[in-house]
Amino acid sequence: ARIRHYKWEVKYEYKSPDCFKKLVITTNGKTPGPTILAQRGDTVVVELKNSLLTENVAIHWHGIRQIGTPWSDGTEGVTQCPILPGDTFKYQFVVERPGTYLYHAHYGMQREAGLYGSIRVALPEGESEPFLYDYDRSIILNDWYHKSTYEHAVGLSSNPFVWVGEPQSLLIQGKGRFNCSSIATPTLEPAVCNTTSPDCSPYAVTVVPGKTYRLRIASLTALSALSFQIEGHNLTVVEADGHYVEPFVVKNLFIYSGETYSVLIKADQDPSRNYWMTTNIVSRNATTTNTLNVTTTTAPGLAFLNYYPNHPRRSPPTVPPAGPAWNDVQPRLNQSLAIKAHRDFIHTPPQSPDRVIVFLNTQNKINGNTRWSVNNVSFTLPHTPYLIALQQNLTDAFDQTPPPEGYDFVNYDIYKKANNSNATTSDGIYRLQFNTTVDIILQNANTMTPNNSETHPWHLHGHDFWVLGYGKGKFDINNDPKKYNLVNPIMKNTVPVHPYGWTALRFRADNPGVWAFHCHIESHFYMGMGVVFAEGINRLGNLPSSIMGCGETKGVTHRP
Ligand code: C2O
Ligand code: CU
Repeated sequence: ARIRHYKWEVKYEYKSPDCFKKLVITTNGKTPGPTILAQRGDTVVVELKNSLLTENVAIHWHGIRQIGTPWSDGTEGVTQCPILPGDTFKYQFVVERPGTYLYHAHYGMQREAGLYGSIRVALPEGESEPFLYDYDRSIILNDWYHKSTYEHAVGLSSNPFVWVGEPQSLLIQGKGRFNCSSIATPTLEPAVCNTTSPDCSPYAVTVVPGKTYRLRIASLTALSALSFQIEGHNLTVVEADGHYVEPFVVKNLFIYSGETYSVLIKADQDPSRNYWMTTNIVSRNATTTNTLNVTTTTAPGLAFLNYYPNHPRRSPPTVPPAGPAWNDVQPRLNQSLAIKAHRDFIHTPPQSPDRVIVFLNTQNKINGNTRWSVNNVSFTLPHTPYLIALQQNLTDAFDQTPPPEGYDFVNYDIYKKANNSNATTSDGIYRLQFNTTVDIILQNANTMTPNNSETHPWHLHGHDFWVLGYGKGKFDINNDPKKYNLVNPIMKNTVPVHPYGWTALRFRADNPGVWAFHCHIESHFYMGMGVVFAEGINRLGNLPSSIMGCGETKGVTHRP
């Protein structure tokens, strides 16, 4: 195993990812940032210099379990203090499994400013995957806003509430196209929106006719659930969140924020032209009506599958294919149900849990603010990171009352507009007995809008979980567990809970540390849609002093 050493600098720069110029956070000058390439068993070291001038930062290594290094998880408020402007922080961790992973900012809503990228962990020399391909490409899908994270965060925490709205565009590997002529007020600066800027020329994946490509597709959207498709080509799904999938073929791939998939495509179509690669929003009606009553819809993200030797900027001769209907839940549920562990890579789950926790997902009003809650508790981050507070027994650093294990199963109507007037905010956490098996049931419900239930992609830090099942309506604790897949469930780190549905997960609390579990929609987590698990704290040993320096840890340490 090798050491992969990276030196990164994050800073604000003007960029035009969708032709519209704005301040974005770059990593070594780019967004998406550099791809981390490693082999299984390697140690990755990232020395991160914060050059954001007046803003803190922290980076999370999404899908990497951080076994033995919980302080490198990069989750501000949970595993570390934020990295101050001018400071350099060293992340160090082992990538112990092959697969497709991500990294992104985990401080406030900073991820949506552009601080994200891919991690690709290959097998060691001499080992091979359970499928064949000639070449490998990473594609991150994202949605993109023109307002700053500050404008969003202030709006979300204001009364009256200001929603972030639908994104201005969708990006494929950092490139998109905003319709500049739709800007209502002409700006003083003519170059602010320029469709000829090379920044926003469509992304192209160049393929050699006859070859097979492994596309590692990931989503880091702030809000949107997406469908991804390539005109004229089938996608064979072979990997999900770092686990091999029993292969299945789709025309379009549904992908939620925080998920990664590998799909195989064969360049077997007419090689005299290029083909559209498109992504579009599902699960939300992505239309926005402004004060002048003009309605706009977020345009699909467009890229090219470029057949060599055609020019990579040559537009396909066709109209981009339309994606699936945004409001059709069934095909999305079907895809979720289709994902099973590859027959030669089955990790059989423990056959029963030691503890079952049900998480009702609701929208609430708390003191006039619009929030998201889990079992009527809306999560807030403490000023002292849990990892340090727990290890040093700083009991007044956060609420010591654990949040509830469930909700009023008998009386709560998940189809009725949420009221939940008894909701509260808390930074309390769930303490898990080390080495026990925990079941989590995510229960979806109606929002505060009548006849509306959203899709929430939940992401667990520090673990992979088995996906035991999905269902419609209210989870029935007596009968639904009998239908669990205990034979070949896929393991994942991010999973959707579909509108008015439930999703059941199982994991082993075997990784000493403190781990966030939250909706990966940037604004939902910011509005309280998350929880924190702690396990094996007495096994931690000494924490590095580099993670300290904030909240109650100020006196405990000295920063270099
Ligand atoms: Cu990718 Cu806690 O997130
Ligand atoms: Cu959500």
